[in-house]
Amino acid sequence: MKFYELSPEKRRDQLVQEGWLTTQDAALLAGTHSLPEVTGARLIENAIGEFPLPLGVARNLLVNGQLHQVPIADEEPSVIAAASNGARLATANGGVRTHVAAHRVVAEVVLTNLTDLVQARQTILAHQTDIQKVIAVAHPSMIQRGGGLDQLTVESLGAQFLKIRLTLDPQQAMGANYANTVAEAVAAAVTSWVDGDVLVSILTNAPTELVTAEVSLEPASLATKAVSGDVIAKKIVQLSELAFVDAERAVTHNKGILNGIIGAVLATGNDTRAVAASIGAFACASGRYQPLSRWYMDQGHLVGHLQLPLPMGAVGGAIGALPMAQVVRRLGGYQNLAIMQQVIAALGLVQNLAAMRALAGPGIQAGHMKLQANALAIAAGATETELSMLVNALRQGSMDLKHAQQYLTTIRLNKKVGQSKDENRD
Ligand code: MEV
Repeated sequence: MKFYELSPEKRRDQLVQEGWLTTQDAALLAGTHSLPEVTGARLIENAIGEFPLPLGVARNLLVNGQLHQVPIADEEPSVIAAASNGARLATANGGVRTHVAAHRVVAEVVLTNLTDLVQARQTILAHQTDIQKVIAVAHPSMIQRGGGLDQLTVESLGAQFLKIRLTLDPQQAMGANYANTVAEAVAAAVTSWVDGDVLVSILTNAPTELVTAEVSLEPASLATKAVSGDVIAKKIVQLSELAFVDAERAVTHNKGILNGIIGAVLATGNDTRAVAASIGAFACASGRYQPLSRWYMDQGHLVGHLQLPLPMGAVGGAIGALPMAQVVRRLGGYQNLAIMQQVIAALGLVQNLAAMRALAGPGIQAGHMKLQANALAIAAGATETELSMLVNALRQGSMDLKHAQQYLTTIRLNKKVGQSKDENRD
């Protein structure tokens, strides 16, 4: 049998036999089940287990007057701490206001080897009603749900290509499968009207609808122990201006925004690669890499404004198959796709706020390393009872794996000495 035809258990056995996995690795993979093994095996090819990540929640983020608990699946210790911090600040200042444009997905069918591009364009445009029919037949239930073709354009790209651009309404779905089904059906029909060949028929992951999020903050509310709110607000504006002129800074600035967004998108069962590709393209849309947010002072308040694409769905894809995605949908208060997109954009903005406030105040390492100590202690092999002692030792000493292992050895030795003293006392 081929590898992809085996059960997950047999795939693990094979990887052990081939020397890629130890038996302990295989046992770990076999023991981590929050998904029924059959679900994992059906969702992806060559499944051998699960890769669990902690799921946390950024508490009480006020978005358009509604409180949300935002679930985030993430491995970086400081992400949820920063998100919660940002959410607390934004909520105390009246919350985040957001807006999202109507949800659309775009498919492209590109033809080549045409004898006359101009003539072919006219022919295709004359078949608009037929194209509508092809789309309806390809996916009738989308039309019944109120979706379907929104706009059709045909443009030549250089002397070689003719592109049919289909803007589609996929309702609550992300729309990737819908766009691809429609694109292939339209491609098949078009070849009977014009000469030439279909080169590609697929959705584009380029940005479609944009989500905006805005927050306005009283500078005093931003004060840290050592720095006044006015100074923090002023520095945040300068950091924002810097990101517009220093692309290297802009990438890191945007990474801070993505810190919240990617983990929140992952937790909903959506395709994080589609979101990352689209956001990356949007950041470069002007021809120069730009920050996704802008911070400025307005009438004594610090205002933050974020705009970005979030190509997601509330149904379809893996979402319905992943039980945890359903929990996340309920916990997040994501009653529909528009709310999901807006809350996640608001999260990106407050995540950005928390990062900038830390940069403008104490710097990020103090808080970051405090949280990193837990990850180091676990990596060094501390048991539950040793964990807090080792974390304390790390915070007072050197924060690296080598020292974590040394401190752990000392903790264990001290414990042994303590035990033998107790025994002698008896
Ligand atoms: C760290 O994960 C994210 C930050 O670097 C973002 C930023 O610099 O704005 C703190």
